[in-house]
Amino acid sequence: MSCFPCDRKRGKTTKDAKKASKATEKTQNANDSLKEDSSHNMMEVLKNESQHISAQTFTLRELVAATKNFRADCFLGEGGFGKVYKGRLESSNQIVAIKQLDQNGFQGNREFLVEVLMLSLLHHPNLVNLIGYCADGDQRLLVYEYMPLGSLEDHLHDLNPERKLLDWNTRMKIAAGAAKGLEYLHDKATPPVIYRDLKCSNILLGDGYYPKLSDFGLAKLGPVGDSTHVSTRVMGTYGYCAPEYAMTGQLTTKSDIYSFGVVLLEIISGRRAIDTSRAAAEQNLVAWARPLFKLKDKKKFSVMADPMLQGQYPARGLYQALAVAAMCVQEQAAMRPLISDVVTALSYLASQTHNT
Ligand SMILES: Nc1ncnc2c1ncn2[C@@H]1O[C@H](COP(=O)(O)OP(=O)(O)OP(=O)(O)O)[C@@H](O)[C@H]1O
Ligand SMILES: [Mg+2]
Repeated sequence: MSCFPCDRKRGKTTKDAKKASKATEKTQNANDSLKEDSSHNMMEVLKNESQHISAQTFTLRELVAATKNFRADCFLGEGGFGKVYKGRLESSNQIVAIKQLDQNGFQGNREFLVEVLMLSLLHHPNLVNLIGYCADGDQRLLVYEYMPLGSLEDHLHDLNPERKLLDWNTRMKIAAGAAKGLEYLHDKATPPVIYRDLKCSNILLGDGYYPKLSDFGLAKLGPVGDSTHVSTRVMGTYGYCAPEYAMTGQLTTKSDIYSFGVVLLEIISGRRAIDTSRAAAEQNLVAWARPLFKLKDKKKFSVMADPMLQGQYPARGLYQALAVAAMCVQEQAAMRPLISDVVTALSYLASQTHNT
């Protein structure tokens, strides 16, 4: 695997700085032309569809009141874009999640607003809904629907005794729902949206573990100003970015398919995309899994199933889910499947109930 560390939040440093900065530069170029394109397209879409835009504007005062002045007990977590708080809107009593974007280096008001309005046009049951935004002075905040069960990452990797273990059926339903969200972005949205930052922490869970993708617009709206900052957003998160994307900055929907494959492997195995606490050969999930995909004896695939499942999964379902993951993480981007095929396969797997 030729990915390199690129997640600012986790403070990773690159091993091959030269290669990284070259890739970043190229990626930046790709990103710029994509931005010009999508900005133009967005303006077109906005002209045609402005009557459907549902994003509300909020004043800073309203969001301060909703979060009790961003009080510590409302704090949900922090990612690469800023801090997230739980809040209650006084006007509607609605519970929301409010993301306070880091103030340094956002690309200016116009681009922020175009992006926000564009996002408010994207609607699908498997995408977290953007309720509104606030652009007040130099403050930029986004108001999302609140997802009560938190992220898939919390459920897979941050296990605590109060949390129920995700059973096999639930895992397949989450994978199928996340794939449907991605299918909407790739195949149904106009202009199509390449996610760029698909990972377990960006799959949020609602009641009944209903999955929704979050941050699908922010990945494009990355800050500018200092290059490491940009590269973080452009390159996606270490462990999830497709090799060709990391090396050349070539950005296609197939790089999202690769990231989806990594997420699916995490769902099946319970392992993290990158886990430095493991032995060297097992630290990178894809590198660990690739030789195992080739095993002739299918019974041995059970080594790839999450031990927490304690064998409670259908053997056939496991092979099939692994086959989908293996196709998605192929080195050759052109060999990876289309998201519509992934949706078909995973919807079938999710429809098979497994009772033990
Ligand atoms: N709409 C939401 N409802 C409930 N919790 C949320 C919501 N959005 C984010 N969170 C929580 O806030 C925390 C931080 O999310 P955030 O998206 O900022 O970081 P991240 O996903 O880890 O990284 P990235 O910045 O790359 O997306 C996560 O733990 C997530 O579960
Ligand atoms: Mg996120």
